Amino acid sequence: MILVTGATGQFGKSVIDFLLKKGISSTNIVALVRDEEKAAALKDYGVNLRTGDYNNYTSLVTAFTGIEKLLFVSGSDIVKRSGQHQNVVLAAKEAGVKHIVYTSFLAKDETENSPLWIVAESHLKTESWLRESGLDYTILKNTLYMDLVPAFLGESVVETGVIYLPAGNGKVGAVLRSEMAEATANILSSDNHAGKIYQFTSNEAFSYHEVAQHLSDITGKAINYISPTANEYAQTLTGYGVPADYIGLFTGFAVAQANGELELVGSDVEQLLGRKPTSIKSFLNQVYSTSK
Ligand SMILES: NC(=O)c1ccc[n+]([C@@H]2O[C@H](COP(=O)([O-])OP(=O)(O)OC[C@H]3O[C@@H](n4cnc5c(N)ncnc54)[C@H](OP(=O)(O)O)[C@@H]3O)[C@@H](O)[C@H]2O)c1
Repeated sequence: MILVTGATGQFGKSVIDFLLKKGISSTNIVALVRDEEKAAALKDYGVNLRTGDYNNYTSLVTAFTGIEKLLFVSGSDIVKRSGQHQNVVLAAKEAGVKHIVYTSFLAKDETENSPLWIVAESHLKTESWLRESGLDYTILKNTLYMDLVPAFLGESVVETGVIYLPAGNGKVGAVLRSEMAEATANILSSDNHAGKIYQFTSNEAFSYHEVAQHLSDITGKAINYISPTANEYAQTLTGYGVPADYIGLFTGFAVAQANGELELVGSDVEQLLGRKPTSIKSFLNQVYSTSK
């Protein structure tokens, strides 16, 4: 039995889709959900539903009972995440889970000095808890979802012709969420991944200078990239009424990229997929080709 947490979220749902496509029977898949009403599509597939909340240890022990392999999708509440994740690892151990596959985080700087420490801290703690658990574990060090690039560009990027982001000349090896999910499904449905740490990053990293060039080519409009200071950027976003939490995260990712922290490339995803992951040029073409 494989249990997928975060199954009502985009990553977890996509992993279940790929497991089913690979021929894993829905009766061998369990989806952990907080709210069964959000899981109608999973129910239609015939996937087993179990309810549980990372905040509720007992609910997790009950949900994890009888599970061999657990895909632990990291939670979305950055403030409460450390305690939640400790609950998941301890509950898995108590319930007798054999192997946990965990979606972690990828950046060069894994210290408090990183502008992404607010995101990284709970992931790094979770990696330690997994190592200490005595269970088999596989750590997926996930880069930025490429799907998020349009959010960094802003919805009016083609109209304004400006990319405004404090990412300097830094690069990121972003990968599509669905391709990370497919690679994860391939790990869950095969053996010999215990003790391994995979870097879920692309073969090539890109900068926002390159994004601007691709967007200009795709749309036929001049798109310029301006890299303000982090303070200027935060002030501008504040002026547009963007909530402080979002500003913190967007600035953190952009500054980490400017510092070269996200410029990590590798072939793990390519090997797991059996093909190169989608390039930024191809992704931008899919998203913006109708904006000509
Ligand atoms: N690599 C990246 O660029 C990137 C970007 C954003 C996030 N992430 C991380 O990757 C994870 C998966 O991404 P995603 O796109 O699938 O996010 P998502 O769509 O927001 O899904 C998050 C999932 O976690 C579940 N969840 C949240 N809190 C929970 C709790 N207390 N107990 C049980 N389940 C809980 C949610 O359940 P509900 O449906 O009930 O809310 C949802 O199913 C995120 O949660 C985050 O940790 C990575």
